[in-house]
Amino acid sequence: MPSTPSTSIEVPAPMDTLPFRSNSKGVRLDPRTLLKSGKIDWERLGALNNTSLVHAKDLDRETVVALARAAALLESVHIEETKPLDGKIAITAFFEASTRTRLSFESAVLRLDGKVLSVPDGQVTGIAKGESLVDIGEMFNTYGDVVIMRHPATESVDEIRQNLAVPLINAGNGSGQHPTQGLLDWYALLKWRPTLATPDCPKEDRIHLGIVGTPGSMRAVKSFVRIALRFAGAVEKITIVSEMADPVGLDLGNEVENSPITVEVTNNLQEVVADLDAIYMNSIALLGDSYKRLDSRYKLSPDTNLKPGAVIMHPLARNNELDPALDDTMHNLYFAQAAGAVFSRQALLCAVLGRIGRLADIAGR
Ligand code: CP
Repeated sequence: MPSTPSTSIEVPAPMDTLPFRSNSKGVRLDPRTLLKSGKIDWERLGALNNTSLVHAKDLDRETVVALARAAALLESVHIEETKPLDGKIAITAFFEASTRTRLSFESAVLRLDGKVLSVPDGQVTGIAKGESLVDIGEMFNTYGDVVIMRHPATESVDEIRQNLAVPLINAGNGSGQHPTQGLLDWYALLKWRPTLATPDCPKEDRIHLGIVGTPGSMRAVKSFVRIALRFAGAVEKITIVSEMADPVGLDLGNEVENSPITVEVTNNLQEVVADLDAIYMNSIALLGDSYKRLDSRYKLSPDTNLKPGAVIMHPLARNNELDPALDDTMHNLYFAQAAGAVFSRQALLCAVLGRIGRLADIAGR
C-alpha cells in the first residue's frame, strides 16, 4: 500500500446516482461529502488485518475516521464485480437478541460476496447442553474466518478468546461494550458534518453533544462516548443527562477526567436541550442478565425545544423516550445510523479480513 494514499473518487451531483438509495425517513446523508473531506488512510486500515475489535478504547480517532471514509466509499460506488469478501466466511454468533446488529453484519458480508454461518440464538448450539464458550471458540476456528459475537455476559469475550484463533468482533457483551455501534454512530455523525473528521475543525462547526442515558451501564452509550472523547477539537462539550449521581461509572470515569473535553452532568434535560447540536438517546441497559429501562422519563418529541438543525441519535430499539412523530423531521439521524451500519461494518470486515487492498483498488488509491 502507498505511504501517501489518496482517493480519486469524483463526486457526481445527485444523490439518486448512489448505488444504495435509502428511503428512510429523516436526514438523508450523502457519503461523498465525507469522502471529499480528506484522504482514506489505507495504511492504517491495512494494519487492522487479522485483528480483533473487542473494546472501543482500542479505536483511536484516526482509525475511526479511516473506517468512516472507507464506509463512505463502499456506500458511494458500485463494487459488485470486485467481490471484496469472496471466499471468506463470517460466523455471527448471537447469544442475545438483536435486530440491527446481526442482520446488518450479515447483509454487509453477503453484499460483498462473503458467506455467513448464523447462530441467531445460543439455544441452538451446544450451550443448551452445557457446552462452554471456551470450547465453542475452539470449534469456530475451522468453521469461519471471523467471529461476530453478542452475549449477555460481559466476560463472554474473554472466555471465547481463550481458544479462538480467528479475529473476534464484539457485537455487544452485556453492559460492557458495543464498539461497532460506536463506529456506525460516528459514521453517521461524520457524514452529517464532515468537518468533524478534519484535524482543524472550524470553531463554528464544533458540537455540543448531549447524552441522555447512563454510559456506565449502557454499552452503546459507553462506546459512543468513549469515541467522542477522542474527538477533542471537534466536540466542544459533552452534557450527560441522567438522574443518577454517577452515570459515567469507573471504567469511563478516568478517561473523562483526563479528557480536554468539558463533560458535565445534569438531571434537567429542558435546561440544556436548546443548546445541544446532537443528542444521543438510549434507555435500555443490561444489568445482570436482564434488560432494564433507565432514564426513559426523559423524552424527546416535536414539542421539545430542540435547537434548529440539531440531530437526534439513538442506537435503537426505542421505547417511549423517542416519539415516532419525530421520524419525519430533519432531527431524525437515528434511521441514518441504522442504514449506514451495513457500510460501516463492511469497512471493518474488509480491514479485519485483509481485503482492504481491494477497496483501495476501487478508489484508485
Ligand atoms: N443497536 C443495536 O445493537 O440494535 P440490536 O439490539 O437490534 O442489534
